[in-house]
Amino acid sequence: MQGPLIDTLTRQGITRRTFLKYCTTLASMMALPPTAGRAMAEAMAAAKRPSVIWLPFQECTGCTESLTRSHSPTIEGMIFDMISLDYQETLMAAAGFQAEEALHNAMKDNMGKYLLIVDGSIPLGVNGAYSCIGGRSNVDLLQEAAQGAAAIIAMGSCAAYGGIPKANPNPTGAVSVSDLVKDKPIINIPGCPPIPVVMTGVLAHYLTFGNLPELDDKGRPKAFFGETIHDRCYRRPFYDQGKFAKTFDDEGARQGWCLFELGCKGPVTYNACATEKWNGGTSWPVESGHGCLGCSEPDFWDAGSFYKPLSTPADPLKFVSAATVVGAAAGVAISVANRAKKSAAKAAHETTTLADLQKESEVPK
Ligand code: SF4
Ligand code: SF4
Ligand code: F3S
Repeated sequence: MQGPLIDTLTRQGITRRTFLKYCTTLASMMALPPTAGRAMAEAMAAAKRPSVIWLPFQECTGCTESLTRSHSPTIEGMIFDMISLDYQETLMAAAGFQAEEALHNAMKDNMGKYLLIVDGSIPLGVNGAYSCIGGRSNVDLLQEAAQGAAAIIAMGSCAAYGGIPKANPNPTGAVSVSDLVKDKPIINIPGCPPIPVVMTGVLAHYLTFGNLPELDDKGRPKAFFGETIHDRCYRRPFYDQGKFAKTFDDEGARQGWCLFELGCKGPVTYNACATEKWNGGTSWPVESGHGCLGCSEPDFWDAGSFYKPLSTPADPLKFVSAATVVGAAAGVAISVANRAKKSAAKAAHETTTLADLQKESEVPK
């Protein structure tokens, strides 16, 4: 294996063997066949690093923080070795006119070939005046940069779906990238913030195969968003046994029991947190003792009910589309309906427990 990426990694003390191991792990995370690891390593090693223009719009910098907290030498740490990051105003040394010049040069020199990463939503209110860079609105900058892009990565729930800025009452008129750009391939990597290794996987796929990986109906890479948090959660055996923490400091919580009754949205949230984790595989929300908020689903903030179990009848489950109402949600809905028949008044105020669900044989397995 030879090439610019290998040279860079070698200078950082990463051996070819370690690089091959990373690629094999990455291929396995992306559900590619075992032989894909070597093919991926060879393609990535030889590939010219693609020019990347990264535009941060109406955002909190959490997405940037998430990626820059990916430590080398790790798989996610390879992100910045795989690309030529030609513009990212938070990270670049240049400022003002120099930064603007760098952006324009990157677009001109790589017309039609660069990858555009966007984090943050785009505000349309007051002609886009809520968020401007160099005197130009985000919508203006996005439309210009999108024209010459080979593909766009909408990183984080703000860019992918509007995120928290779009939450009711959406004072700035925030929208997502795909609300505005209709003529370019767009891949959504939602999460608030997103997982760094997902970005590595998407870039590795792009460098290896020259295209974006297969996406689900919400524009997310299926390899990482194909299953729910609940499908891969290490607390799942407790769910299956009906062992639930009732408060955040009871004996069940201390024993690491399931957080379903404390509002965990894992059963209806598609993301890879349970397997990829954060900070070099250190932990993830459920492992830290807090239920999943559903942050990688559209409109998760408005869906709210973060501390109400999914089965509470009052929970609108707004972000659960008809297609995803399977498993727990279906069980919950049927359970609630059945219980409502028994006692509408009672059902309106009580929480469906696993025992209820199991009795009615509608529990997702
Ligand atoms: Fe911040 Fe979350 Fe939006 Fe990223 S997705 S910019 S972390 S609010
Ligand atoms: Fe894990 Fe939440 Fe599912 Fe319980 S409900 S198994 S804590 S994802
Ligand atoms: Fe978000 Fe849930 Fe993962 S809150 S970070 S999708 S565990």
